[in-house]
Amino acid sequence: MKKRKTNTKFVCQSCGFVVQKWFGKCPECESWNSFVEEVEESSRKLVSVSNTKPILLNEADNVTNKRVTTNFKELDRVLGGGFVPGSVVLLGGDPGIGKSTLALQILGGISSKVLYISGEESVSQINLRSKRVKIKNENLYLLSETNLENIIDKTKELSPSIVIIDSIQTVFSTEFSSSPGSVSQIRECGARLVNHSKNFDTTFLIIGHVTKEGSIAGPKVLEHLVDTVLYFEGGKGHSYRILRAWKNRFGATNEIGVFEMLHNGLSEVANPSEAFISERPENVPGSIISPSIEGTRPILIEIQSLVTASSLGMPRRTTMGLDSNRVAILIAVLEKIAGIKISDQDIFMNIAGGVSIEEPAIDLGICLSLFSSFTGKPVDPELVVFGEIGLSGEIRAVSQADIRIKEASKLGFKKFLMPKNNLDKSIYELDEKISITGIKNINEAIEYVA
Ligand code: TYD
Ligand code: MG
Repeated sequence: MKKRKTNTKFVCQSCGFVVQKWFGKCPECESWNSFVEEVEESSRKLVSVSNTKPILLNEADNVTNKRVTTNFKELDRVLGGGFVPGSVVLLGGDPGIGKSTLALQILGGISSKVLYISGEESVSQINLRSKRVKIKNENLYLLSETNLENIIDKTKELSPSIVIIDSIQTVFSTEFSSSPGSVSQIRECGARLVNHSKNFDTTFLIIGHVTKEGSIAGPKVLEHLVDTVLYFEGGKGHSYRILRAWKNRFGATNEIGVFEMLHNGLSEVANPSEAFISERPENVPGSIISPSIEGTRPILIEIQSLVTASSLGMPRRTTMGLDSNRVAILIAVLEKIAGIKISDQDIFMNIAGGVSIEEPAIDLGICLSLFSSFTGKPVDPELVVFGEIGLSGEIRAVSQADIRIKEASKLGFKKFLMPKNNLDKSIYELDEKISITGIKNINEAIEYVA
């Protein structure tokens, strides 16, 4: 018998970059000590049993399956209206954030046959958890398994509508000698599961432990393979958990769903705007409300700053939930254009509730929050601000200004400071009892709150 030729390669466990000899630092993603030697068999065959045939677009309506909705409206919205049959969803997040709990609760609310495969917990442990979160589902099957070939066989046998794999890091194929959790195993097992899903119209929800810093980033190599990538965010100290769609072939990206971790599992937060600003202290400098559009939905957030004189040669800059580069730019704009000397101050910024926002529409909120903390003067508690800020201090128009105003006025905010270029017909037609001020540059904004 011909002996199969094997190659060894070094694969970066952070980004999947492959090199022929060991490196201390990955040339691609610059992480240290991330290369692991993996054996890859060169003469492997990809066996694919496909039962698909070409279909006319006009007839495709007949095969466009209905989405499977869950008990969670928040999740359905993030998915774009529920699970699409035959799709593969990757659910990533820090260990302990609540992925297994969410997965189990999802299955608990689905009436068709579903299967939960865990490589991390035994059937009795899953049972205990399901008692804790009060799940009763007669069509929910549990399986404790890590072998990919067995997983695929059992899935074929049972033919459930949704299968959860918890987690991809524990799954391994016997065709590869590298250890479970390595980039090669994750990539191959992921590809085989995707293949199976498309051929048998089974939905897979694949769980992967991924940290924001990317320290266990193996499952990231699956991002391009799967249809939808969801990340579960939120600090462990916070009870809010944010489910965010990073990629979605069947819905809006950046859509978020907000959950709260309680003693009996995750519960939906129906009105996130209210939740995020509920603990806003009254008349405190540095606190300001700004509406951000996440996916298709407006969300009000509270931006907080603390600006204090620094005793260090290089003042501290700490931001949570905000892009620190963006904050650095805005600090420079404040200093150079508005003449506010804050570069020698320690600056700490945070978004209340543990949510993180990247939308530039909150730029104006960031600047005014900094200004308010620096001067020690609280802003009007009824004021809401939004607008993108350019490098010359100009306030740029943002999208969907009317939706932002409506969301804030629903919660009782009456005054709005926003880009002048957003003042069009749709804004003037808002028949709320509100006062709107349009501004063109950062100096006008400072004048307004000063
Ligand atoms: P888990 O779903 O096991 O996290 P992951 O699968 O992402 O690693 O969640 C574990 C955490 O959630 C753990 O710290 C305990 C907490 N938890 C609750 O607070 N309430 C609950 O009802 C459950 C099931 C877990
Ligand atoms: Mg888990």
